[in-house]
Amino acid sequence: MANELVRFSVAMPEDLLVEFDKLVARRGLAKNRSEVVRDLARDAIIAAECEEPDVMVVGTLTIAFNHHASDLQERLDRIQHDHFGHVISSMHVHLDEHNCLEVIVLKGTGDEVRKIADRILGTKGVKHGKLVLTTTGDHL
Ligand code: NI
Repeated sequence: MANELVRFSVAMPEDLLVEFDKLVARRGLAKNRSEVVRDLARDAIIAAECEEPDVMVVGTLTIAFNHHASDLQERLDRIQHDHFGHVISSMHVHLDEHNCLEVIVLKGTGDEVRKIADRILGTKGVKHGKLVLTTTGDHL
């Protein structure tokens, strides 16, 4: 069966194992070494899939910016309108009197999504941002 658990042994330097066990402990009681290894394997497989040119990906781009920066909101909106076919949704949060957070959900090939994200992240006034990609493995 494809989902049957198969045991295998892993050798690693002791100091790496000590650090790995700290990570396992941080993830809580529901996680053990095997669960965390499986999580890491899935994460690496998804990341590799997102690099394939014909795989459809979904990305969440989180950005933080000061809305007082000159016409920044307008520039960010313009980029999203330029790519309306790839922007599924966006959410704007007013963090305080000055700072805004935006989560923009993008779809397309990995190249398309990364290109749009880079354009947004490269907009002057964006203070911090990060793109997270995932995929269901669908191809073009
Ligand atoms: Ni705001």
